[in-house]
Amino acid sequence: MDTIAFIGGGNMAAAIIGGLVASGWEPTRITVVDPNADQRDRLAREHGIHTASDVADATTADIIVLAVKPQVIAAVAKQMNADLSGKLILSIAAGVTIATLETLFGPVAIARTMPNTPALLGLGATGLYVNDHTTEAQRLAAQAIIEAFGICVTVAREDLLDAVTAVSGSGPAYYFLMIEEMIRAGTALGLPPEDAMALTLQTALGAATMAAQGDAPEELRARVTSPNGTTHAAIVAMQENGFGDVVAKAMTACRDRAEELGRL
Ligand SMILES: NC(=O)c1ccc[n+]([C@@H]2O[C@H](COP(=O)([O-])OP(=O)(O)OC[C@H]3O[C@@H](n4cnc5c(N)ncnc54)[C@H](OP(=O)(O)O)[C@@H]3O)[C@@H](O)[C@H]2O)c1
Repeated sequence: MDTIAFIGGGNMAAAIIGGLVASGWEPTRITVVDPNADQRDRLAREHGIHTASDVADATTADIIVLAVKPQVIAAVAKQMNADLSGKLILSIAAGVTIATLETLFGPVAIARTMPNTPALLGLGATGLYVNDHTTEAQRLAAQAIIEAFGICVTVAREDLLDAVTAVSGSGPAYYFLMIEEMIRAGTALGLPPEDAMALTLQTALGAATMAAQGDAPEELRARVTSPNGTTHAAIVAMQENGFGDVVAKAMTACRDRAEELGRL
């Protein structure tokens, strides 16, 4: 049975640990290292896991999760100062490349992931890429950890994590913007803002739930769009105003920025 240590006990670590314990991970196989005593106490109390304040305490675990801000990773590697061969390093730090991680931690198994904020609710959509030193068993272990807080998509090349950033990493914000605009437009059409908000939120939830049942989104859309009807009028206005282009350009800009930040 693997043991797992989290370096950093913040929001993401708490969400992942909650998911792991709920999916049957023995809490005694989980350790969290965090400088903040309150943070450690809260996680120990909530989940019954081990905690530590010294990063060196993480180095005995089979799987080490880097759950700190990207700018802290180099300091963590220095504090670790241990032979990590045979272990799996799983990084959730946005934009920190495999090349950087290998420079810091050595030629060991490294899983780089790109999670998104709904992970905090167990509804994450995460991209996973593993380096050549990772065995299939280790990749499956990384996938199982990710699936404790949502879905996992393994990508074949590291650069595709930038496309994952464009789809799911930044994706929640696109939906928030759509929700904002629908509330604004509904209010402009005369609804009280709280009604526009309640109707918009429930519609977003209902549409996402229907789409998640498996029917193609085009098919679902066709079913609610009768020729020359009300939905048809809205969809035509969206398409005539370049909705598809707007989305494609936004996601390309996001991918390009992720690439750029990865080179810094
Ligand atoms: N939040 C998200 O939805 C999300 C999505 C995608 C990716 N990520 C990535 O996930 C990572 C963690 O994000 P988060 O939101 O969980 O951050 P967070 O809440 O700030 O958690 C980071 C924790 O690490 C602690 N820490 C700092 N230096 C440390 C060290 N040397 N050793 C051990 N622990 C240390 C911090 O303590 P102090 O507060 O005392 O410094 C804090 O408790 C980031 O790299 C981020 O890019 C997050």
